[in-house]
Amino acid sequence: MDYTSQAETVVTNDIMTPAVIIDTHIVQKNIEKLQSHCDQHGILLRPHIKTHKLPSMAQRQISAGAIGITCQKIGEAETMAKADIKDILITYNIIGAQKLHRLEKLAQRCSLSVVADNAYVVDGLAKTFTKAEYPLEVLIECDTGANRCGVQSAEEALDLGRLIHNASGLTLGGLMTYPPMGDQSQVNNWLKRAKDLLIENGLPCPKISNGGTPNMWRSQDVSVATEHRSGTYIYNDRSLVQAGLCRIEDCALSVLATVVSRPTDDRAVIDAGSKMLTSDLLGMEGFGLIKEAQDAKIASLSEEHGILDLSNSKWSPKVGDQIHIIPNHACVVSNMVDYVYLLDGHHLEKTAVSARGLVT
Ligand SMILES: Cc1ncc(COP(=O)(O)O)c(C=O)c1O
Repeated sequence: MDYTSQAETVVTNDIMTPAVIIDTHIVQKNIEKLQSHCDQHGILLRPHIKTHKLPSMAQRQISAGAIGITCQKIGEAETMAKADIKDILITYNIIGAQKLHRLEKLAQRCSLSVVADNAYVVDGLAKTFTKAEYPLEVLIECDTGANRCGVQSAEEALDLGRLIHNASGLTLGGLMTYPPMGDQSQVNNWLKRAKDLLIENGLPCPKISNGGTPNMWRSQDVSVATEHRSGTYIYNDRSLVQAGLCRIEDCALSVLATVVSRPTDDRAVIDAGSKMLTSDLLGMEGFGLIKEAQDAKIASLSEEHGILDLSNSKWSPKVGDQIHIIPNHACVVSNMVDYVYLLDGHHLEKTAVSARGLVT
C-alpha cells in the first residue's frame, strides 16, 4: 500500500475501520529522545513492551541503546525471546507450577531476571531453579509509595534478600520499584536505605530498577537507580499530553474511525467503542482526543459505538468521514487489536501485534 502523506491526511480508504495506526517516524523520535535523556544522566533504559507488544518496536528500542526490555507476563517474554530479544526482566510475581516450568524454559533462551516481593514466590523460584551454574536473577520488588506490590520496608527487603541469596539456584540482582508519581526524593531515600541495609549485611545490590513514563524526564532524581523502565513514552497518549509531558504531535498511535451515523445536529456516532478505545478515562473527560476537532467530545461508549457530543464544536462531520483519535491510554488500545498499521512516511504496513492478549 502506498499513501501520499502523514497520518492525518493519508488516503485510508483501503483500511477497514476502526483501526490502529502508528506513525513510525514519531515512534523513532520518542525512542531517541528518552534514550538520549537516559544516556545524558548515565541511566540504563529498559523499556516496558506492554505498550507496543511488538518485537519490531523492541528491536528499535534496543538498536537505539536500550539495555534490554521489561515484560509483565511470561507470554510477552516468550514472544520477545522468540524474536531474539536477549535481555528480559519480568516485573511480576510468578506463581504456580506451569508458569515456573515456562520460566525455566524461557531462561534457556535469554538472559532472564524476575522480581519477587514475598517468600512464597521466592520459594517457588528456588525449587524450580536449583543449578548454581545457571542461577536465575531475582530483584526484590519494593513498594516505595505506589501501594501496589512490593515489600513494605528496608528490613523486609533484607529478609527477602537473604532468602534469595541463600537459594543455590538464585542470585540477588538488587531492587525494583514502580514508583508513585510526584516527588521522587522519597523514592530515592527508600531505595537508598534498602540498598545500604543489604550491603551492610553482606548482600549484593548491583541493580536498582525504577520506572514510569510520567516521571521519565525526572528519572535522574532517583540517583540511586541504575536503570529506568518506561513503556508509554514510545507512543505517548492523551493522558501524557494532558500532563504536559508531550505534545499532540508526539503521539504516535491513533485510532482511525468512521462516522457511521448523524442522528442529530449535535451528535455523531463512530465505529470505535469501548472494544477499541477502552473505557480508561485516567481522570479526564471523554474517551480520547479527536485530532480533526479537539473541541468535540467523545462523550460515551458502548461496545462498538462511540457517541460524539458536538454541542460545543463548529465541526460537523458527515456519515462516511474518517477521523483520527488519540486515545486516553495507548497501552490498552494496542492490546485490543490483532493488527496495527505502521505508517512509515508514505508506506503503510499491516503488522500482527504478536504479544497481545498474552495475560499469563
Ligand atoms: C512494573 C512496571 N514497570 C514499568 C512500567 C512502565 O510505566 P509507564 O506505563 O508509565 O510507561 C509499568 C507500567 O505499568 C510497570 O507496571
